[in-house]
Formats: sequence, C-alpha cells, structure tokens
Amino acid sequence: MHDATAVLHVGWMPRAVSALLRAGADVTCAVTPADAPAAEAAGAATVVVPRPSDVEGVLAGLARDGRTLTDYDVICSVLEFCLVPAAVLRELAGRSPGAAQRALAMRDKHVQKRLVRDAGVATAASEVLPSLAAVDPGAITFPAVLKPLDGGGARHTYVLTDEKSARAYLELAAAGGDGPWLMEEYIDGVEFQVDGFVRDGEIRVLSVCRYLQNLIDVHEGGIVAHVALPPAEYPKLYSDVRSVAEASFKGLGHHDGPFHLEVFQERTTGRIVFGECAARVGGGRTDDVVELSFGVDLRDEWARLTLGRPSRLTGPAEHTAEGAYGGMNLPAPAGEVLAVPTLDQVLARPGVVRAQVEVEPGDVMPDVTAASHLRAGLAVVHGGDDREVAERMRDLAAWFAGKVEVAQPVTE
Ligand SMILES: Nc1ncnc2c1ncn2[C@@H]1O[C@H](COP(=O)(O)OP(=O)(O)O)[C@@H](O)[C@H]1O
Ligand SMILES: [Mg+2]
Repeated sequence: MHDATAVLHVGWMPRAVSALLRAGADVTCAVTPADAPAAEAAGAATVVVPRPSDVEGVLAGLARDGRTLTDYDVICSVLEFCLVPAAVLRELAGRSPGAAQRALAMRDKHVQKRLVRDAGVATAASEVLPSLAAVDPGAITFPAVLKPLDGGGARHTYVLTDEKSARAYLELAAAGGDGPWLMEEYIDGVEFQVDGFVRDGEIRVLSVCRYLQNLIDVHEGGIVAHVALPPAEYPKLYSDVRSVAEASFKGLGHHDGPFHLEVFQERTTGRIVFGECAARVGGGRTDDVVELSFGVDLRDEWARLTLGRPSRLTGPAEHTAEGAYGGMNLPAPAGEVLAVPTLDQVLARPGVVRAQVEVEPGDVMPDVTAASHLRAGLAVVHGGDDREVAERMRDLAAWFAGKVEVAQPVTE
C-alpha cells in the first residue's frame, strides 16, 4: 500500500489544506476548536490548540494527543501568522536548518527592508521606535509613514505630513497598540501587488496587479481592489518588477515558494521600489485572479513543493486570459446588517465571474475603512482590458455598498 506523506499544517486554511488533500497527503491541522469541525469535514485530522500561531500551544496540543513533531514528514503553513511558528517547529523536528530565520525575513518589516536594501534594492528608509512617547514630532522628516511592526491590512498605518498631523496620528497610533512601531520614509508612487511562485530560485509565475487605489487610502474610503495587467501591454513594468523581485528574493533567501509582494512605482522617476513581501499566496481572491490570468493554481504548486514533488510548470507561466481579471473587496456601511444583495445578484453584475457574500442580516458590519481585509464579500471581475475591469469594479463597489441596508449607520 502507498504510504501517504504525513503533513502537519499549522492553522486552518481551507484552500491550502484541500490542495494537500487533493495531492494525496495525510493532513493534520493544528487548529482552534472553532475551526476544527470545518477542517475535519474537509478530510483533515485535527489537534486543537488555543492559538495555532503559538508554538507552545501546538507542542502541548501534540503532546496531549500522544504525538510528537517527528510523527510528521512535513510541517508547514501558508497562514501569515503561522509561517514563522511552522518554520520553528520544522527546525525543532531537526529539519530545514535556518528555516526560522528565513521565515522571519519574509515576515518582519524592518529585518526584511534591511536585507532587501543590502541586496541593492530600493526601499523606504525605516527606523524602529520602541515607544511613541519618545518621538519628537519636530524632529520627523516629512512626509513619513508610521505603522505597527506587527501590523496588517494598513491598520493603524498613517502618513504624517507635518508636525500637526504627526501629533494627531501619534496619539491615534498609541491607542492602536503598545508598539514597537516603524517610522518609514514616504514613497510617493502607484502601488502594485505582485504574486507568483519561485522554484529553485527561478520565478516561474509573475502576476503584476495595479491596485485601484494605494491600500493606505482605505482609511479615506478607498476601494480595495487589484487588476492583473497583461504582460504584453506592460512589458517594461513587468521586466522592472521582475528585476526587483529577483534581487529581493536573493537578499531574503526566498528560493522556493509562493510570494505576495507589494511594490511602488515612484511617481517622479518611474523606479520600482520594494514595499514588503510575504511567503504565501495573496489574500482575497488573488489565487483565482492568477489562475484565470495565467492558468496556474498557486495552491497546487505550493502543495507540490511542500510534498517534494516537481512543479507542473515546465517554463515561465504565460498570460493566457482574454482581456483582464481583477479581485476586489465588496464594501458595505458599518452597522447591523438588515439587507444585503444575494450571491446571484452580485454574479449578475457586469463582468463578475466569481463572488462570495460573507455577511447576512443580523451580522454587524465593521468599519471597512479601518483595515484593507475588512469586507462584506469578494468578487472576481473580468473585462476587455484592465481599464474596463477597473471601471466595472468601481461600479460594483458603489452598487453593492448602496444595496446593503444597515441599522444605525455608524459615522465618524
Ligand atoms: N513607506 C511607505 N510609503 C508610502 N506608502 C506606504 C509606505 N509604507 C506603507 N505604505 C502604505 O500603507 C499600506 C500598508 O503598509 P504595509 O507596509 O504594506 O503593511 P501591512 O500591509 O502589513 O499593513 C501599504 O500597502 C501602502 O499603501
Ligand atoms: Mg502590505
């Protein structure tokens, strides 16, 4: 009988775990009790833990069940907050020396920028601030960006333009957490999301998506959406981004795996500047956008790599889509939801090819301007070219948000 590879996946990530199961792996997920039923229904065994990102909790969960790390051939995760814990556990199991440091280089915003800068790639100057109390607003070089070191989704990330805004935001930021914080040079440019897969140090899949608005604009009600640009129409952009990605990955030691990279194109020089990079598949429906545009299933590629199998790709993935695709958040006003469009209504809007509605009457919609991952749903939109996709996305966002009825709309 064929012995399946025993995999410990740290955390619950439906699409990644199903890719492992499709590949025939015997998967155990270290998950919270709330996620355990879904993981088991998908066909995975579970070890219940209070927080999968906590190494102690995972070790204790395994020990309670009479298991050890060495029961597993592979220990992995594709969840942002479980990447380093999974790497630590891999090293602890006596595999992949250096895995934790490599994972950290793909997580810590300051360490990452330093490595990338040392590799000769342009990126914002950054300084760690252990406490905001010690910051003198008069000594800041404006404009600057203030962000929490452990942040995500642009939450509590602010552009400081002058002493007055610095004072206001320092106060706001202090309410958002205890730090440490990062103060960065402000990059004036258009932001892109770059997704793909690197194997044996070679970029096999490269998808460059323009954000409709830079993500930080979410705080001003900006739409969170990205459109995949066809390489044939943007050859210079693709080649510049590829150079930055290649040099960055060398500096970061990221030779194998998925990547989700953010870059800016400087307004004045056109130069590509590194923003940040994660060793995972991008959020939202990034996987669908890459699959529809380039015909590659990033989760499947990740599962193959994780299980030590060869890639399905024999050469660089080509953009095979007719027209262009993009992925977006469906926004909604904050408050208790009374009515929301149905999935069929969303799918009937121009260009919508895939969608999910994630709220229902009775749910409380958070204020989506707080962070870029807050949303009422997701949609993948098609159009004749990237401009038509962007237009359809703006229309869809306005239509959807206008159709959601909430009690006591929350205003600033
Ligand atoms: N140095 C910078 N210059 C200009 N904009 C920035 C800078 N750093 C971050 N931003 C904006 O803030 C957003 C969030 O910051 P980021 O570093 O990507 O952290 P996270 O995504 O973890 O919240 C970015 O997507 C970008 O729009
Ligand atoms: Mg980011």
